[in-house]
Amino acid sequence: MKALILCAGKGTRLRPITFTNAKPLIPIANKPTIMYSLEKIRDAGITEIGLVVSPENIDDFKNVLKDGKQLGINISYIIQQEAKGLAHAVKVSKDFLGNDDFLMYLGDNLVNFDLSTFIDKFKKGNYESFVLLTQVDNPSQFGIAVMEDSKVTKVVEKPKDAPSNLAIIGVYIFTPTIFEAIENISPSWRGELEITDAIQWLIDNSKNVGAHIVDGWWKDTGKPEDLIEANRTILETLKEQKIEGEVRSDSSVQGNVHMGKNTKIINSIVRGPAIIGNNVTINNAYIGPYTSIGDSVYISSSEIENSIILSFANISDVKIGIESSIIGENSKIFSVDRKPYSLKLIIGDYSNIQIPR
Ligand code: G1P
Repeated sequence: MKALILCAGKGTRLRPITFTNAKPLIPIANKPTIMYSLEKIRDAGITEIGLVVSPENIDDFKNVLKDGKQLGINISYIIQQEAKGLAHAVKVSKDFLGNDDFLMYLGDNLVNFDLSTFIDKFKKGNYESFVLLTQVDNPSQFGIAVMEDSKVTKVVEKPKDAPSNLAIIGVYIFTPTIFEAIENISPSWRGELEITDAIQWLIDNSKNVGAHIVDGWWKDTGKPEDLIEANRTILETLKEQKIEGEVRSDSSVQGNVHMGKNTKIINSIVRGPAIIGNNVTINNAYIGPYTSIGDSVYISSSEIENSIILSFANISDVKIGIESSIIGENSKIFSVDRKPYSLKLIIGDYSNIQIPR
């Protein structure tokens, strides 16, 4: 079995962060989101992995993941020229996939369960397709499945009147029959070839579609709040305190905190769970729970919690607490003593700044 990870999306809801980094490469707990998925797929015994990327982001992925050898996998890069839907991404990957069954994984999804259980179910059940489902409160935002016993009898993409609340999450298994299904569907109202429609074609043509309702967590990191929540969920799994670098005697590091080399904590409190990269300076500051701080960040006289601070950011003398925030690489937030008492902002397109009244 091979795996196909779809990473060609533009990540518009995560702008401006996604202007300089593809969505699956944004770090969660200081590790690119896609690494968690690659490790899960590898641990399920799949090593031939195709990454569907866009002409704009292929180099970003190659720089970080290379050919995958360091992770014990073999990565092939497949370019999807235009984002025309999940089924279109499968279609352009035909040469890579050949006649193999494959696991398809949406690049911005995170799961905490073992994929091998569900691969075993697929293998034992003589299915043409197998999907993972979870109960959701907002079914009109997902692909939705209706089940009878262990079989899927209907799937529908983002229905107005949902026939169930079982959402299709971003992990699927297919046999090569899916190519025939994709040839027989038309673009949806959003102009995309929907994988959900291809699965419905399989059902309409009497092919077996199976499903497994997951009980672990699953996150789609499409929006800023999802990313912050995913960061929290991963940080919660930190089991111990691991300190490299230096914690000065005037400081206190409490709870499960991981801290990298050459990092200095001076006259500050760090309360875990939190992760702090290498070469970071934290001076006269408070870092609260659920915060990830990338490499070479400088923070002084400021208070931050429940946030993701990316590498080389500089946050100094900010007199109001920062929380539930994502601060991009090389960003600067600092205060100055000048008149008029006003904000001076040089912010990227699609940035989002909230100021308390
Ligand atoms: C896609 C699928 C949808 C699925 C969702 C899971 O939606 O089309 O069926 O439920 O991923 O994240 P999209 O993210 O393209 O809106």
